[in-house]
Amino acid sequence: MTDLDALERDLLAQVEGAPDETALEGLRVATLGKKGSVSELLKTLGAMTPDARKTWGPRINGLRDRLQAALSLRREALAEAALAARLAAERIDVTLPVREAPEIRGRIHPISQVIDEITAIFSEMGFAVAEGPDIETDELNFTALNFPPGHPAREMHDTFFLAPDRDGRRKVLRTHTSPVQVRTMRAQAPPIRVIIPGRTYRHDSDQTHTPMFHQVEGLVIDKAANLGNLKWVLETFCKAFFEVDSVTMRFRPSFFPFTEPSAEVDIQCSRKDGEIRFGEGQDWLEILGCGMVHPNVLRNCGLDPDEFQGFAFGVGIDRIAMLKYGMPDLRPFFEGDLRWIEHYGFRPLDVPSLVGGLTG
Ligand code: DAH
Repeated sequence: MTDLDALERDLLAQVEGAPDETALEGLRVATLGKKGSVSELLKTLGAMTPDARKTWGPRINGLRDRLQAALSLRREALAEAALAARLAAERIDVTLPVREAPEIRGRIHPISQVIDEITAIFSEMGFAVAEGPDIETDELNFTALNFPPGHPAREMHDTFFLAPDRDGRRKVLRTHTSPVQVRTMRAQAPPIRVIIPGRTYRHDSDQTHTPMFHQVEGLVIDKAANLGNLKWVLETFCKAFFEVDSVTMRFRPSFFPFTEPSAEVDIQCSRKDGEIRFGEGQDWLEILGCGMVHPNVLRNCGLDPDEFQGFAFGVGIDRIAMLKYGMPDLRPFFEGDLRWIEHYGFRPLDVPSLVGGLTG
């Protein structure tokens, strides 16, 4: 007969040292399972004499009982430890700030936002949106707009010219959105009521000028559109855009080859501590050019100036964006600095509309 005490010490030490529940279960099967070592010992009792059984019975059964008790104690301890480890691993810190979804973190560039605002205001007045290419022919950018070849007004535009094509003609990066007036009049019959937002280019760079900038052009052509209508449209636009109840505007006579008469429009404002406010004050700020479409332009577009007339205007989008949102420098608009866009950008789901509020 084996040394039962030594066996017990050995088995209890193994139970105590079992690293996890699987090892412990293995140990149980190896000792108390059907063919386990302790079960085998118990089986030997049957073949013993009654005397021998009297001595060995309690010893072997005692070993089995203590082993069973040790196993279940160890099982409990291991289960508790496993639970504690799992709780520690799966713990979430509910005080951590929620990480924002991309559609919340993303930003709309102020220029895009302002174009959306302008579009919302003019669509309410029945204007459609028209577009044209950034690379334009000299004919559309200048000649059709009544800038004759060699005319000094061309020089004022600091034009970027492309390399001459096979016929020696040089395309240009459009210096204004006005060529799309011509494209529109050639493509559709009056009545026409469009705005034309887009990129424009001039060789110019300082705090308020960048070589690429944005304009929105307006064009209305029918049989009766007049200066009074133009004034009302511009006033209605400025009130809605700057979100004020009244604006005072000043029409100063000016010159553009494609309009006659032409005017530059100033808007009354106050400047206090570098802050500009509209609808009050003694200062004037130039915001756009406009006029009645020149008969030569109508003719260049195949329209009879004795039958049709209309007005046009051109606004610097970057400039009114800077005014409305108090941004002092234009250059960072196009530098792609994430910190700038996070500060000045707009939330993607705040889509401007006149009913919902332009700027939330
Ligand atoms: N195209 C002009 C510019 O870039 C702005 C302008 C003036 C547009 C008068 C117009 C207009 O439509 O009528 O300087």
